Amino acid sequence: MARTAVVTGGTRGLGRAISLALRDSGCKVAATYHSNAAAAREIQEASGIAVYQWDVADFDACADGLAQVTQQLGPVDILVNNAGITADATFHKMSKEQWWHVMRTNLGSLFNMTRLVIEGMRERRFGRIVNISSINGRKGQIGQSNYAAAKAGILGFSKALALENAKHGITVNVIAPGYCDTAMVAALRPKVLDAIVAGIPVGRLGTPEDIARVVAFLADDAAGFITGATFDINGGQYLA
Ligand code: CAA
Repeated sequence: MARTAVVTGGTRGLGRAISLALRDSGCKVAATYHSNAAAAREIQEASGIAVYQWDVADFDACADGLAQVTQQLGPVDILVNNAGITADATFHKMSKEQWWHVMRTNLGSLFNMTRLVIEGMRERRFGRIVNISSINGRKGQIGQSNYAAAKAGILGFSKALALENAKHGITVNVIAPGYCDTAMVAALRPKVLDAIVAGIPVGRLGTPEDIARVVAFLADDAAGFITGATFDINGGQYLA
């Protein structure tokens, strides 16, 4: 029976590749997006993947959205908490809004989305949760105290959740991608980006597919003994 997967931020960047990889492994995929309707239309037309618009930082919007997904595709078996934003600034210049926008979107969303699916997963005794952290939640990064805090928070959240749910057929794992070829990274100043690429031993940015294939692996029914783990996929840039 096809599993139902929800990928937040699933229409662009890493999320787009993750949605496609899960679709290719036989899942019914719901990809959420926040504001880029053109990108959502593109993946829907190209792949037939169902897209849903809501703000993952808003609990009530998540509840409404997940109710629609469940009605149309069935109960959620696989949740990929991928949606994330940056609002980079060195901390002494960071506004309250930059701090909370990133915390609400990149970490608060994990409470919202996961809280709404976890009870059903426990009842059905199956779940796969994959949370997308970042190399910068592992090592820190100038200009990202908000983002690094949220991404490091994902690690603790995931370990606690993995322990609580291990006996219920639910696995919870983290992927910490390095710098990948996405719009988020392309937005960096060229000089900053060049310096970053020079520090990646593999000698290139990651591709979204480099990340997506590991998500599909972890989401598989056969991956039931892998839980509470963090996978660094960063071309050797940071060895934890
Ligand atoms: N390594 C070493 N030093 C660095 C540095 C780095 N990567 N980045 C900045 N600095 C230094 C600068 O040289 C500067 O030092 P001095 O004051 O001694 O000259 C100081 O930090 C302040 O930097 P800026 O002059 O650039 O300050 P700014 O206010 O103009 O810009 C910034 C700040 C916007 C944060 C900018 O530094 C920047 O874009 N940094 C990169 C942030 C980054 O890597 N973001 C990742 C986005 S992609 C992503 O998040 C995906 C993922 O998960 C990997």
